[in-house]
Amino acid sequence: MVGLSHAGCFDDMRSDEVRNIILVGFMASGKSSVGRALSRRTGWPRIDADDEIVYRAGKPISDIFRDSGEDAFRQIEREVTTDICNETGRIIAAGGGSFIDEQNRKTMLELGTVFYLSARPDTIHRRVTRGNPNAPVRPMLAGGDPLKRITELLKQRAPVYANAHHAVETDGLSPEQVAHEIIKICGPGITKQSN
Ligand code: S3P
Repeated sequence: MVGLSHAGCFDDMRSDEVRNIILVGFMASGKSSVGRALSRRTGWPRIDADDEIVYRAGKPISDIFRDSGEDAFRQIEREVTTDICNETGRIIAAGGGSFIDEQNRKTMLELGTVFYLSARPDTIHRRVTRGNPNAPVRPMLAGGDPLKRITELLKQRAPVYANAHHAVETDGLSPEQVAHEIIKICGPGITKQSN
């Protein structure tokens, strides 16, 4: 499936109904790179929630997990999510766990059009390691075999990601191709020039 909305149709939205475009999905599903491509096509500013968290905490995400634990990270993530979703006309790339939180999910579904970028575990594994088995391990994948951890975590999370307004399968697609599918769903009025 590529770019099928829940309504099963590309032309069911008017672009003036889109307040924010919010990208959710597992780590390395392409949220940041698709966000950049969408920002180029629409002219809408892009906000990366993880960058905002790092800015507010004054340290990298791995240090927040190490120094204060996941709960503290999730608390900052909730504050950031509320603040950025209350903007208008933004392309928002959420962190991989953000939509799993009930409060964040409600906020995103109310204040934006939410796209789940899906990817198979092997695709995610290849992207996170970038072909380098010694690449730094992200906090949520630490401890054990990363492919096994990705498969388990994705199995838990996939039913929750399915609450997004739309889903786009990203395996084998470039960020530009995924952005193109999203623009087809939103309608061409969302782009700088109709294309
Ligand atoms: C997380 C995903 C990360 C980051 C944090 C937790 C998760 O974001 O927010 O490490 O729980 O899946 P990306 O999806 O941008 O890697």
